[in-house]
Amino acid sequence: MLPIPYKMKNVPFSEALRVVGVPSLDSPTLWLAIVCMPLSFYGDWISVVVCGVALLVLERWSCAPLLTSQVRQDAATSKAQPRFTVCAAEAADAAALTSLYEQDYLHAHRQMHEKSSAGASIKEWQAALGPIDFSELLMNSSDEVRLLKLECIDDGCDPSLVGYILYELREKGPRGKGRQRFCELVNIVVCSKHRGCGAGRLLFEALCSDVASNAPRHIGDLRLFVAERNADPRAWYTRLGFADAGWQTECVGGSEVRFLRMMFKNERLGSK
Ligand SMILES: CC(C)(COP(=O)(O)OP(=O)(O)OC[C@H]1O[C@@H](n2cnc3c(N)ncnc32)[C@H](O)[C@@H]1OP(=O)(O)O)[C@@H](O)C(=O)NCCC(=O)NCCS
Repeated sequence: MLPIPYKMKNVPFSEALRVVGVPSLDSPTLWLAIVCMPLSFYGDWISVVVCGVALLVLERWSCAPLLTSQVRQDAATSKAQPRFTVCAAEAADAAALTSLYEQDYLHAHRQMHEKSSAGASIKEWQAALGPIDFSELLMNSSDEVRLLKLECIDDGCDPSLVGYILYELREKGPRGKGRQRFCELVNIVVCSKHRGCGAGRLLFEALCSDVASNAPRHIGDLRLFVAERNADPRAWYTRLGFADAGWQTECVGGSEVRFLRMMFKNERLGSK
């Protein structure tokens, strides 16, 4: 399934036709053809030429600005929007992944709780959020724990690692029909510089297609925990389709921190 190219905004079909020079139904070029054809049957070539020139001028006048703005817009978009790919992380990525985890996840959590859990150390936050040893994880790969990395592939530069998603396939409950099979989204991080341009969604879509192809029995039930104060990701998960499913409390630095359980159920995709 990987790598997955970053999806650019779709150009409307009518605009695409216009860019490659195919006239649309409301185009003056079409009117040119309609007017010229009957006139040419009667051999009236002067009126055909006059009519044709007039309509071609009209065509250029009405289409040129749109064509230019589309091209300009595309050029501006491709310059402003970096391109991303997602693929399985490798042992050599451990240092970059650790740095993202520490900076954009651990320290970010400590900062967002600095009023309520002021005294909490990074070690305490690590214990509450779940420590991740990326070197160990990548050395001893397993089918149950998967780590996908997000790379930014700006033209002219080497790909740089700017995010990751870590998930675990879990099972619980009685064997047989009542057994729960789900995918725990342990951690998703996009470095702060690249947020808000679709990279997080791309990682999430990569997780979904990875689980669907490797563990189809787990795809119908995705779960995660998110800190109550981590407002932006909470809203983002809701927009992706996750629903609130209860609270869990952890003691961090002597204060209580609440985590929200969120679930994404898709009975149609999950098979029991
Ligand atoms: C949660 C997180 C991974 C989201 O990553 P992101 O790259 O900002 O996510 P996206 O860009 O896909 O989505 C953010 C919004 O950007 C906007 N956006 C701007 N340009 C966009 C584009 N070209 N394509 C898609 N979305 C775009 C959209 O409004 C989008 O929201 P929506 O898709 O839900 O409507 C990121 O905020 C993060 O790493 N947070 C810190 C770590 C953390 O706390 N993780 C959660 C652990 S529980």
